Amino acid sequence: MQTASTKEDLRNLLAPHRGKRIVMVPTMGALHEGHATLMRQARALAGAEGVVVSSIFLNPVQFDNAGDLAAYPQTPEADLAVCRDCGVDIVFMPTPDIMYCGDRSITMEETHLSTVLCGAKRPGHFAGVCLVVSKLFNLVQPTDAIFGKKDYQQLAILRRMVRDLDIPVSIHGAEIVREADGLALSSRNVRLTPEHRAAAPTICQTLQEAKQAYKAGAAAATVCETVHKTLAAIPGVQVDYVELVDAETLHELTDDKRMALLAVAAFFGEVRLIDNTELTR
Ligand code: PAF
Repeated sequence: MQTASTKEDLRNLLAPHRGKRIVMVPTMGALHEGHATLMRQARALAGAEGVVVSSIFLNPVQFDNAGDLAAYPQTPEADLAVCRDCGVDIVFMPTPDIMYCGDRSITMEETHLSTVLCGAKRPGHFAGVCLVVSKLFNLVQPTDAIFGKKDYQQLAILRRMVRDLDIPVSIHGAEIVREADGLALSSRNVRLTPEHRAAAPTICQTLQEAKQAYKAGAAAATVCETVHKTLAAIPGVQVDYVELVDAETLHELTDDKRMALLAVAAFFGEVRLIDNTELTR
């Protein structure tokens, strides 16, 4: 495995591989089994002839809250070991100064899918994600990139970005990886108090119950209300949103024959957790 911390080093490492299948897994580090799953999928997709590139970059531009950025875990040595174990060929680990020009003045705003769910709650977040991912795509020029479905809205926005900007990369969505008790893996989970860690699997349980209730004919509003009440009843939990939307447009579901998405964000103390499930009638 090779590592690059500058754009020039990265370009040099990639130069002999141009023309091959290049599969990219962008990350912000603090890698866990969810990331490892994406990297193993990337390895399988690239095959023996292709190249797997991962980036480890805690992108300051996508944080709307300085405290959240400061508290984000950083484990570079362990992250490199995960990349190596999963068969990553090249890891790009720039600093913010290398990644961004001090007087940068271009923004990347998606104006439809970003206005709802997490986008409505975290102003500028998805603009920061689109900016960094478009830069990474320009630097690496991958043929494929893999993102997890836990960040369902992020995945939808990045699909839209490459479609609208004609960026020649295939975006793949990977299923959510969960702990044995159902909690979706997240770099934020390590910041949960023991009490909140014990209560957090309730998110997944209530989503699964909601999925069944929706399938059995429950109204969207009732489903959301039940999930909201269940989570709000946990001590120290503040529900940010519970919404049932069209899984593709992320806006109101106008035809219940279409795939729906039930998405949740809730603060367990200081830690904001998200989760979701796709629903059908
Ligand atoms: O999902 C993440 O970890 C980040 O939003 C991403 C895609 C690596 C961009 O910084």
